[in-house]
Amino acid sequence: MNASAFTSDELDQIRDEFPILKREIKGRPLVYLDNAATSQSPRCVLEASRTYYESYNANIHRGVHRLAQEATAAYEGARDTIATHFNCQREEVIFTSGTTDGINLVSGILGRAKYLKAGDEILISALEHHSNIVPWRLLADEVGAILKVIPLTADEVWDIDAAKALITERTKIVALSHVSNAIGIINPIESLISLAKEQGAITLVDAAQSAPHFPLDFQQMGADFIVFSGHKMYAPTGIGVLLGRRELMETLPPYRGGGEMIKQVTFDQITYNDLPGKYEAGTPNIEGVIALGEAINFINRIGLSKIQAHESELSTYLESQLSKREGIRIYAAGAKKAGAVSFAVDAIHHYDLGTLLDQFGVAVRTGHHCCQPLMQCLNITGTVRASFGVYNSLEEIDQLLAALDKSRQMLL
Ligand code: ALA
Repeated sequence: MNASAFTSDELDQIRDEFPILKREIKGRPLVYLDNAATSQSPRCVLEASRTYYESYNANIHRGVHRLAQEATAAYEGARDTIATHFNCQREEVIFTSGTTDGINLVSGILGRAKYLKAGDEILISALEHHSNIVPWRLLADEVGAILKVIPLTADEVWDIDAAKALITERTKIVALSHVSNAIGIINPIESLISLAKEQGAITLVDAAQSAPHFPLDFQQMGADFIVFSGHKMYAPTGIGVLLGRRELMETLPPYRGGGEMIKQVTFDQITYNDLPGKYEAGTPNIEGVIALGEAINFINRIGLSKIQAHESELSTYLESQLSKREGIRIYAAGAKKAGAVSFAVDAIHHYDLGTLLDQFGVAVRTGHHCCQPLMQCLNITGTVRASFGVYNSLEEIDQLLAALDKSRQMLL
């Protein structure tokens, strides 16, 4: 059985690109369904990293020698690839170490700019990852601002009426996830971004779980900032991107101080670099940037709309098969999802189930998924989450289901 977005041969070819998928766990083929935590890298990405170190490892923007020029060209070439992919200017692409770093950068510079005063409001949602809660809590506490939270309906999706009512002239920052890492639902961010803009608020979209799964257009989305990580989209860990609206970033103060982010330094006075250098202090993750550029080329060779259709078939199939089984609770059941399905099994702790699934070679994530406040809203301690990448197949979903059925027999 095969998902129809790819022929069986096409999916085999894609899978062949990922050496790690040949691994066995306890004598069984690895079924890797933890892509929302981190995805695997195809050969072209692995080779881009290796070639950099083997052939042109050098610092960028500093050297006149050949290796430095090659490294700089590859690094800036990756920036162009990313700008084209997300439909933004190259000056709007800032390399970070990941989504968490990107959100801390934005909250840090807004704090330094004294953008908030006591009583101002920052709006997030009940679905946020800790990385889109804690930096805002820190900023709110610094100035006496108020953190407001969009609640969920009984169906575990945003309560849109409540969200609209929460966006007022007091709202100064709206920071929302595009896709929930914990339960996979696609959030209707567009309408809230335009409402926030009408109120003059600064908007940030956490796209860590959407950028790998469907096309994003920075101009069309209209948010001031979009953040995402490379390692959830087939690139290595330690590299991420902040897309920031140029006119706004030009008016905001720098974040980290150091080399590259300056034009002129004396002991008394500093003039800062133009974008994007202003926000890239110090030697960056050169290899990570080059590998991320290659990962985006890989995604584009396949096509994000095909990837989206394929992954949507996987999640729809898993959800329909789980819903046929007694005693399984799917979170945000029936809601449109991207990349992940989260569930709980009656009378079995998620951790025990995850540990047993591993005995069958099936890798899922269990627990609170770095969303403790969401778990508190749902009145649970955690879920089992299966999350998908381009290389997953319907056969692997069947392997997960078979392992789940056997694990239940063993545990009950
Ligand atoms: N944010 C990652 C996850 O959801 C680590 O698993």
